[in-house]
Amino acid sequence: MRILLLTGKGGVGKSTVAAGTAALAAAAGHRTLVLSTDAAHSLADAFGVEVGPEPTEVGERLFVQQVDAQLRFQQSWGEVQRYLLSVLDTVGVDRLAAEELTVLPGAEEVLALLELRLQVLSGEWDVVVVDCAPTAETLRLLALPEALGWYMQRVLPTQARVVKALKPVLTRAAGVPMPGGSVFEAVERLHAELDEVRSLLQGPDASVRLVLTPEAVVAAEARRSWTTLSLYGYRVDGVVANRVFPPADGDDWRAGWVAAQARVLADVEESFVGLPVWRSEYRAAEPVGVDALRTLAADVYGGSDPLAAPVGEGPFLVTRTGGGAVLRLRLPLVTRAEVDLARRHDELVVTVGSYRRLLTLPAGLARLDVAGARVEEGELQVRFHEARPAHARGESA
Ligand SMILES: Nc1ncnc2c1ncn2[C@@H]1O[C@H](COP(=O)(O)OP(=O)(O)OP(=O)(O)O)[C@@H](O)[C@H]1O
Ligand SMILES: [Mg+2]
Repeated sequence: MRILLLTGKGGVGKSTVAAGTAALAAAAGHRTLVLSTDAAHSLADAFGVEVGPEPTEVGERLFVQQVDAQLRFQQSWGEVQRYLLSVLDTVGVDRLAAEELTVLPGAEEVLALLELRLQVLSGEWDVVVVDCAPTAETLRLLALPEALGWYMQRVLPTQARVVKALKPVLTRAAGVPMPGGSVFEAVERLHAELDEVRSLLQGPDASVRLVLTPEAVVAAEARRSWTTLSLYGYRVDGVVANRVFPPADGDDWRAGWVAAQARVLADVEESFVGLPVWRSEYRAAEPVGVDALRTLAADVYGGSDPLAAPVGEGPFLVTRTGGGAVLRLRLPLVTRAEVDLARRHDELVVTVGSYRRLLTLPAGLARLDVAGARVEEGELQVRFHEARPAHARGESA
C-alpha cells in the first residue's frame, strides 16, 4: 500500500501530475485510485471524463474519485459541529485552545480525509494518489488531524467533565446546551478516525510531492511548503518541476524564458538538497486522457520508481543523552530566528511563521525540563534534562 500526495501552488499542474502518476502506477500493474480533495474537481478535466463521488473506472486498474465533502458534512457532522461551537463559546475555553480552533480548516476537508481513510482501509487499492487543494489550504488540511486530535484530547474531555460537573449550573446560568450521548460518541469516533488518517499520512507508506513551475515566486512557496510539511511531520520525497520549456533555437522571447527557467531550476536543485527534482516539459498541448497523462508521468520519473518507499525519519526523533534527551524535528530551510518554541506541560508548541504544531511529548520526555534549543542544518534540536521542581516549569525556551 502506497499513498502519494501531490501539492503545490494553484495551477502548477498538481492534478495533471497526480493523474499521470496514477496512470503510470496502474500501467505498472497496481490497483490505483486517484482522489481529489479539491472542490474544483479538475481530475475529471484531466481525464476528460465524467467522474462521480464514488470511484469511477477510467482505465485498466485505474479509478478516479472526486469527494463530495460538503454533502457528507451536511449529512453527518453539521449538528455535532454546531454543538461543539456553542459549548466552546458559552463555557469559554483556554486561549491557546481557542487560537488553535481558529486555524482549523473547513469541515469539508475533514470529510475528504475521512474518505481517504475509507479507501485505504477498503483493501481495494495498492496505490492511492491524492490530488490536494492548492498549497495553503492543503497545509491546513494536512495539519488538521493533529490540531483536531489535540482539540479533542484537551478540550473535549475537559468540556465533558466540566459539563458533567456543572450541569445544573450551566443549564440554568450559562445556558449551555446539553449534548446527547450520541454527540459524544460521534465526536469520539471522529477523533479516532482522524487520528487514523494522521497516522496513515505520517506513516512510512505515505509521502508528499511538491509540484512547482520554474518561476521564482512559485519556487519560494514550494520551499515554504517543504518547511511547513516537515513541521507537521509529513515526509516530502520529491519535487516535480512542471512546464519546463524545452530548449530550442527560437526567438528571443523563448530563449529568455529558457534562460530564466534554468536559473530558477538551478536554485530549486540547490534548495531541495537531498530530494529528487523531476522535470516535466511544457507540452505543445494540454495533457488530457489516460494515455497523454501516463506519457507525461513516464517522462517525469524517467528511470526512477514513482512508488519507491519514502526515506526519512517521520515526525520526530528522540535520542537519549547522559542526564536527559534530545528531540530532533526536521525543519528544512529555516533559521533560528524564524522558530518559536514554548513548553506547555507535556507539549511542545513549535511555531514557524504562521504555522504552529503541538508536539505531545512522549512520557519519558514529558517529565524532563527543556534545557535549550537550536536550529542546525535544517533541524530543530531541543535539549531536555532532569526536571527541576514543578513550579519552575512552563517557561519558554
Ligand atoms: N506539462 C504540461 N504541459 C502542458 N500543459 C500542462 C502541463 N501541465 C499541466 N498543464 C495544463 O495546465 C493546466 C493546469 O494544470 P492542472 O489542472 O494540473 O493544475 P493544478 O495545479 O491542478 O491547478 P489547480 O490549482 O487549479 O488545481 C491544465 O489545463 C493542464 O492540462
Ligand atoms: Mg487541480
